Amino acid sequence: MTYAFGIDIGGSGIKGAPVDLSAGSLAGERCRLATPQPATPKAVAKTVKKVIASFGDKAETLPVGITIPAVVTHGLTRSAANIDKKWIDAPASDIFAEVLERPVTILNDADAAGLAEVYYGAARGNDELVIVTTLGTGIGSAIVYKGILLPNSELGHLEIDGFEAEKRASAGVKTNEDLSWPAYIERLQRYYSHVESLFWPDLFVVGGGVSRNASKFLPFLELRTPIVPAVLRNQAGIVGAAWAAAEEAKAAA
Ligand code: BGC
Repeated sequence: MTYAFGIDIGGSGIKGAPVDLSAGSLAGERCRLATPQPATPKAVAKTVKKVIASFGDKAETLPVGITIPAVVTHGLTRSAANIDKKWIDAPASDIFAEVLERPVTILNDADAAGLAEVYYGAARGNDELVIVTTLGTGIGSAIVYKGILLPNSELGHLEIDGFEAEKRASAGVKTNEDLSWPAYIERLQRYYSHVESLFWPDLFVVGGGVSRNASKFLPFLELRTPIVPAVLRNQAGIVGAAWAAAEEAKAAA
């Protein structure tokens, strides 16, 4: 199987494209539609259908992987830190399958980004313990050991100094509190030092929009673990979702 379709669901946009899995890159221009408001599972599924339909017949037969910014277990979404509360305990996999009229693979957004970075991006070839974090509205995390994902790690919700980590150190907080780089670096330092002391990873990869400005903060963090920017940037979710869908299709064949 060389191609699969990846969909990345975010708070403001739903993005999708076919992915060439031999290269880990998009096999066509990505389509982005606004996330419907309210972003209930059913409404989101209908928009996902439109994104796939925009690629015509050739997308119809590909396995589909979909990322969601929520904990995902056994096809159910279990949390909703930064999305509509209707996702809590929703049978998301069944809802998508019904609307799209085909089976789908769903997974946490940061887990998808983590898989993409490990198989095609900044952590490619690293066969040890990799932690990928995404700094966005919240903080997402993926723990991958020897290429195997430990799903739903949710390290953005670690409590540090009495605060939920993502309420102090996400990129959204930097914007909302108008933090200077030095002030933000201080918060990131506290966060990554804490995660490092719990997990002892071999590599940190930092994704999310703010990683575009990696040179403004990564070199200033003092850690024993190497820390590098994500390579796939805003394609990581799509690529990781497609990868996961293709793996599931392979396993089912
Ligand atoms: C959610 C995670 C998600 C992360 C990034 C957190 O608030 O709990 O599931 O991966 O945000 O979107």
